[in-house]
Amino acid sequence: MLQLVNLFEYESYASIQELSEEEQSLFELAEAQLEKAYAPYSNFYVGAAVLLNNEVVVPGSNQENASYPLCMCAERVALYSCSALYPEAIPLKIAVVATNRQSKISKPIPPCGACRQVILEYEQRFNSPIEILLKDDTGKYYKFSSARDLLPLAFDGSFLIK
Ligand code: THU
Repeated sequence: MLQLVNLFEYESYASIQELSEEEQSLFELAEAQLEKAYAPYSNFYVGAAVLLNNEVVVPGSNQENASYPLCMCAERVALYSCSALYPEAIPLKIAVVATNRQSKISKPIPPCGACRQVILEYEQRFNSPIEILLKDDTGKYYKFSSARDLLPLAFDGSFLIK
């Protein structure tokens, strides 16, 4: 039998002005992280910013290593910092921006599979969805409601025997 999984909706915005002021400043902080990214191997610079329910905003940027598998995405740097610094605070939104200094990126850069899994972990931990905000180089912005939408048939803590 053919089954249908994961139909979901997302919002797109023609310009940053269509976002709330809070979201605009989240993007500003994410953009500012591009300079702090350490990406000498990929030349792909990623900035992220997470808004917590205590109104703190926590930044992150990708951090690479000569041993390639050790590279860490901006989203996880930001989320793990949130958890380490404010373990009780609930992440509400994450904004992610990226730049490839060699060429334009015409599509929004979505979180990689590993980052979706990590976003999902925090959604589950706090029983609260995390909005994922993206942009592309054409000036368009996108909002996804939850990592659940972007990670069909996800593995999560509910499968582990307690
Ligand atoms: N990267 C991120 O930081 N976030 C993503 O969502 C995709 C990929 C980083 C990891 C690595 O430093 C570089 O981009 C190329 O994969």
